[in-house]
Amino acid sequence: MSPAPPAPRRGAGLLATLLVATLVAPPATAGDDFEQAPIRYSATAADNTVSRLQERLDAGTETLAWKEGTGWLASVLAALEVPVSSQTLVFSKTSLQQARIGPRNPRALYFNDDVYVGYVRGGDVVELSVADPLLGTVFYTLDQAPSPAPRFARRTEDCLLCHGGSQTRGVPGHVIRSVYPAASGQPIFSAGSHRVDDATPLADRWGGWYVTGRHGGQRHLGNVTYAARPADAAAIDPAGQNVDDLGGRFGDSGYLAAASDLVALSVLAHQASAHNVLTRAGFDVRTALHREAALNRDLGQPASQRWPSTDTVLDASAAALVDCFLFRHEAPLTEGIEGTTGFAAEFAAHAPRDAAGRSLKDLDLSRRLLRHPCSHLVHSASFAALPPELHERFWARMDAVLAPGAPAEGFAHLSADDRRAIRGILAATVPGAPQAWRADAAPGAE
Ligand code: HEC
Repeated sequence: MSPAPPAPRRGAGLLATLLVATLVAPPATAGDDFEQAPIRYSATAADNTVSRLQERLDAGTETLAWKEGTGWLASVLAALEVPVSSQTLVFSKTSLQQARIGPRNPRALYFNDDVYVGYVRGGDVVELSVADPLLGTVFYTLDQAPSPAPRFARRTEDCLLCHGGSQTRGVPGHVIRSVYPAASGQPIFSAGSHRVDDATPLADRWGGWYVTGRHGGQRHLGNVTYAARPADAAAIDPAGQNVDDLGGRFGDSGYLAAASDLVALSVLAHQASAHNVLTRAGFDVRTALHREAALNRDLGQPASQRWPSTDTVLDASAAALVDCFLFRHEAPLTEGIEGTTGFAAEFAAHAPRDAAGRSLKDLDLSRRLLRHPCSHLVHSASFAALPPELHERFWARMDAVLAPGAPAEGFAHLSADDRRAIRGILAATVPGAPQAWRADAAPGAE
């Protein structure tokens, strides 16, 4: 039991509180320590798409099927509604099962809006990462051996080694990198590497990955191995460009498909990094609110007392989310891109649409990723679970950036028409969006 806090005296009380606040207030980057309250990452029970599948398996209402060759993979993808068309292939030795991975045995990754699945031919486990609304990214492995009771085992430290540090904004998150792999698949460390997110130009992407699809004269780093870092894009081996077919490179038995779809890769680059931004914002704000509540309690202040340091975290987090969700730093395409699977069609198939049929998942692919550049993660359970204080700031910032008239500073990539379309789609498809935007909904909506 802590003793009741002394009643603060006016004036002196306020000064003392301000002093304490400056000493103990969280810096804008609070949240690094996600094992402490209020996040308590490893100690908190997970509740996400994978844990719920495990509950159905335990209850006997669902079963998984093992197959010779790919083990649990196809059945896991079907149970989690992850399309096979989302397959991408990475051959650099950069991840957990790296001893088995190489150009002749690439690792396959699959994803939908919240689950990511990793598979290595001949590997010991299927690897999963999933957006957990409260815990950010949660990791699981499933042993690749036939069993009457397959079990998704939650994993923490051994995944966080790579998935919980500087590569993931200091939160449990996704890693997508582009390296310069030698013929063995081992990255040439002295050549450096690139983090892959919306801001990464195509010319720096996909080193160590296979890429199937068309992209005109634009170059990427995929499909080939390196002796050294090329001097510039023109020095990249043209044999790796505009590849439709990976035939013969690794033999397709033991794989569900031979493709590594360029459009799937492009959506993956956005979504994986956006999930990290979302996790970071949620952790920072929840940590700041937790500390503020403790401070108010200790100082006998009303629970509603808002501290400037909390305001700073709220504003910074809302701004980071808006920048990411509205593709502020997206590297433009200079020519159109095209994939080789049904991914593009499947990605948009179940998207929420407004009365005019518009959706945030409509792809552009001629000059940028999305026709209406606002992340589909605004529809996610992870976004919905953010603290209301952050939602409020997020929508206020969106309202400022998406306003009619001249574009806000840093958002010149969004024309007045883009902004109106995004406002209209959000008003029609996201419950918390500003009501005033309903006026921008397509004719007939609502
Ligand atoms: C040695 C570093 C390392 C470790 C340890 C590691 N990963 Fe990864 N992981 C990566 C890298 C790097 C990528 C990006 C793709 C690639 O290079 O293979 C990745 C990608 C993934 C992906 C695809 C999407 C995403 O989340 O980035 C999944 C799923 C995944 N890892 C699961 C796991 C699980 C589960 C564990 C723990 C059991 C784990 N990983 C441990 C390095 C690692």
